[in-house]
Amino acid sequence: MDFKKEILRLKKEKNALILAHFYQIPEIQDIADYVGDSLGLAQKASEAKSDMIVFAGVHFMAETAKMLNPDIPVVLPDLNAGCSLADSCPYDDFKKFKEQHPDHLVISYINTTAAIKTLTDVVCTSGNAVQIVESFPKDQKIIFAPDKNLGGYINNITGRNMVLWNGTCQVHDMLKAESLIDLQEKNPDAKIIAHPECSAAILELAAYIGSTTGMIKFTQKDASKKYIVATETGILHQMKKLSPEKEFLIVPSDSTCSCNDCPYMKLNTMEKLYLALKNGEPSITLDAETIELAKKPIVHMLNISKKLGII
Ligand code: 13P
Ligand code: SF4
Repeated sequence: MDFKKEILRLKKEKNALILAHFYQIPEIQDIADYVGDSLGLAQKASEAKSDMIVFAGVHFMAETAKMLNPDIPVVLPDLNAGCSLADSCPYDDFKKFKEQHPDHLVISYINTTAAIKTLTDVVCTSGNAVQIVESFPKDQKIIFAPDKNLGGYINNITGRNMVLWNGTCQVHDMLKAESLIDLQEKNPDAKIIAHPECSAAILELAAYIGSTTGMIKFTQKDASKKYIVATETGILHQMKKLSPEKEFLIVPSDSTCSCNDCPYMKLNTMEKLYLALKNGEPSITLDAETIELAKKPIVHMLNISKKLGII
């Protein structure tokens, strides 16, 4: 079957909006109505007027879309497309942790379940995390969850001392500084750019740190001709498309392989996308109470981001 042709036909017939993250395979990125980072995707989902949203990303992203636009069915091509960061923060454990810090505000990275968002005061993404934290007074006590690498990075550059939940992304945390140094020695003319989910050892070496959108935009406007990219492989598609004259080298997860594909993001395929569009499932379901509670910190984030001109 020509999945591309069928997806385009069904998309029109069903008035569906296809949203895709930068870590999706190139074919999916190319067929999407919008490709973006978590922040851009959340904003697009909140503004959607279509009859269906097909979310080519992972579960927490589709769940966020559902909360922001509960009247539109949101389908995720594979419901097993989870996230190791979201999994690293179970509800009961985090509730206890929060109870141990009663005077703290909770800022959660968007890579969390809806349940964790019900315990959160304000959500952030890698595209606005520093500004969201900085929007609160310097002496505000804060719990930051679940990514200790992103939280540590924010503590570092803001001089804060947020209490960090001990979670990591299995893809970014696996990237090794030694592999990066090795690549840099072989390519002294390349500039290092990294996603803030990487370990502190990687971030220390980076000339630019930012969200997937931030990294792509940086490579478009920066003068360098070569980049060493510390994140998931899917991002290279847009980088090469938008700056075809430049060279991009991905940091391998170890010296023997460059297998830093997110196993969850890569569960989505053109066939599953076609089936999800055709059948209108698997779809995201959330009860009204969870939506009401979990949506508040996301809307709070979008409002702060609008006020600060980030979106
Ligand atoms: P971005 O919001 O930067 O796209 O990151 C999402 C993500 O899951 C990174 O691993
Ligand atoms: Fe989650 Fe990491 Fe995959 Fe992003 S790359 S979706 S943080 S497991």
